[in-house]
Amino acid sequence: MNIMKDLFISDIKPNTSVNSIFIVEAPSLRNGGRHGKYINCTLSDRTGKISCRIWGRNSGGAEEIERIFNGLNSNVGSVFHVFGESETYNNELLVRITDGVDSLTEPLNEESVSPENFEYTPFDIGKIRAGITSCILKIEDPSIRDFVGSIIGDADGFFEKPAARKKHHAFRGGLALHTLEVAGIALTNRDRIESISFDRDILIAGAVLHDIGKCRSFDRKGFGFSANASYSLLGHITPGVQMVERHRDKLENGVFEQILHIIQSHHGQYGEIKPQTIEAWAVHFADNMSATLHEVSEDIERIGFGESGWGDKSGGPVFRPESRK
Ligand SMILES: [Fe+2]
Ligand SMILES: [Fe+2]
Repeated sequence: MNIMKDLFISDIKPNTSVNSIFIVEAPSLRNGGRHGKYINCTLSDRTGKISCRIWGRNSGGAEEIERIFNGLNSNVGSVFHVFGESETYNNELLVRITDGVDSLTEPLNEESVSPENFEYTPFDIGKIRAGITSCILKIEDPSIRDFVGSIIGDADGFFEKPAARKKHHAFRGGLALHTLEVAGIALTNRDRIESISFDRDILIAGAVLHDIGKCRSFDRKGFGFSANASYSLLGHITPGVQMVERHRDKLENGVFEQILHIIQSHHGQYGEIKPQTIEAWAVHFADNMSATLHEVSEDIERIGFGESGWGDKSGGPVFRPESRK
């Protein structure tokens, strides 16, 4: 029989007890707290995510924290029973676990929980898929259209995987949503800046493929996705280059290199290769806009109206204005 879940992330209010089942994601061991070590992680369910700090019980020690961390780290994406309290720290609502650490040593059996309580995606993946398809169909040159369509068709999990571990679009379907936003922003900017000539087909191809390598960065784990060794060893640009290389014979000379250059340079001035074409700059700016606005928006959602706070995702101070009626 499935274990009941009657408290969801979206129901959690400050200073209440939290007793429910959640996915534990992204555990990291930090220095601090009364035992010299604590665990920072994220709890999630179908309604969203919340930060969680595991301080351990008074009688425990750093070894207990490390043991719990090792267990969580090898069961990322699994469901655990969480016994803790909610609190507000730096204007952010989070869950703290002290005495309730025993339930974190063993995840619940996947068969004992209902998947529909845990698969979190804030957007409609069907609509995102339709948006990407219509974007590819806007490419007029049939060989470039076929090239982009074949790569997306081959890219395992493109419509399911997140775009990041923790930062922007770190949810199921996040990679495809971010890709759709980047293509939309790049095309809108191209339409607004009429005095500059863009190669529209190359702009769309580069925008749709810029992060394609992230398909190789995440593996399904439990009900979530977890970054694999390839992500930390190679990043996402090298795998992206490898994925598009396999289809290079579909394109004429020169076209392939222009699209490859967009993938290679989309991190802008801080990347190894800086953008050198109009289309590469346009994709870089669109990428930055989609990523930054999501990071700031998620940071702001964690604080109250009229409050300031530190944005972990955006890496800077954020402020949430009072809502205007
Ligand atoms: Fe990227
Ligand atoms: Fe991106």
